[in-house]
Amino acid sequence: MSEQVRAFAPGRVNVIGDHTDYTGGFVLPCAIDRGTTVTLERSSQPVLSLRSLSEPAPAEVKLPVGDPAAVTPRWARYVAGVAAEVGATTGGVGFVETTLPVAAGLSSSAALEVALALALGHTGSPTELAQLCQRAEQRAVGVPCGVMDQLASVSGVEGHCLLIDCATLAVTPVALPDDVGIVVVDSREPRTLVTSAYAERRAACERAAAQIGPLRDATLDDLDGVTDPVARRRARHVLTENRRVLDTVAAFNARDAAGAGAAMRASHASLRDDFAVSTEGLDRLVAALDAHPAVHGARLTGAGFGGCAVALVDAGSADAVAEAFDGWVVRASAGARLTPAG
Ligand code: GLA
Repeated sequence: MSEQVRAFAPGRVNVIGDHTDYTGGFVLPCAIDRGTTVTLERSSQPVLSLRSLSEPAPAEVKLPVGDPAAVTPRWARYVAGVAAEVGATTGGVGFVETTLPVAAGLSSSAALEVALALALGHTGSPTELAQLCQRAEQRAVGVPCGVMDQLASVSGVEGHCLLIDCATLAVTPVALPDDVGIVVVDSREPRTLVTSAYAERRAACERAAAQIGPLRDATLDDLDGVTDPVARRRARHVLTENRRVLDTVAAFNARDAAGAGAAMRASHASLRDDFAVSTEGLDRLVAALDAHPAVHGARLTGAGFGGCAVALVDAGSADAVAEAFDGWVVRASAGARLTPAG
């Protein structure tokens, strides 16, 4: 008996709120009109075999999966991570296609995880699906990531950003004003140190929280209680970034593009100076975007250490900005779904 299924999951761009999800803070991503499709002919065999049009070697994963991190090639670890978390004992044969740039900070891995979990028949709630895929990513590549990317991919709403409260996982769609557009530009800097530096940043936040309590509830005055100056700066970023996310939501609701842009500029400065996850190339790119007359504000997006910048621009000039920077306009889009196969 075999059955063909097809699932699509979008990537995401984070408008504002980086390195806040894993401390129970606020983020404001949107699912985008690029993503990953998994087409799978399910079978009763204990093997999951996937080819990817953007990878030279296929993923051949024996089921049930033992340790996803031991699987090769590297991209197959995400496949194995999802299969392990779903508890798959039977697999199938299929292929993966993506319109996302890989390793550019637009959550190509989350899109693969979510699409595959759906194709493998995951039936839980959207939140459960996102958390399952977050665990898959953590097991696959050892990055102690938060849940933003997977939850954004699952929960996307056309024309809306998603205010996610990472303490409760409540998702509130926030309409993007129709006079603004979102442009993404890849810095094309190789992303280095992401795994070790990400874990190190997260650990610094946890050290700070151990001294002053959950960063979500802390005030700037509380920061005096963080003895390690590095942890204090990291925590200051988290506190101020949470505030900027809420300010950006208020600005969108008031159709105040300049206000949202100002928060994005301040976010970049904080990620650069307090959280130390920018690079020279990203700083140059963000400065050039900010200097463009149609740009309200720009910042690095995602984990940092290379990858993409995001800019909030006048809707009428979005195509021109994208062309000037060799980037692309992204549209806030619907979340992951099973699509008719065959
Ligand atoms: C990566 C992680 C997310 C989040 C961002 C930074 O994308 O997967 O959970 O922490 O970095 O905001």
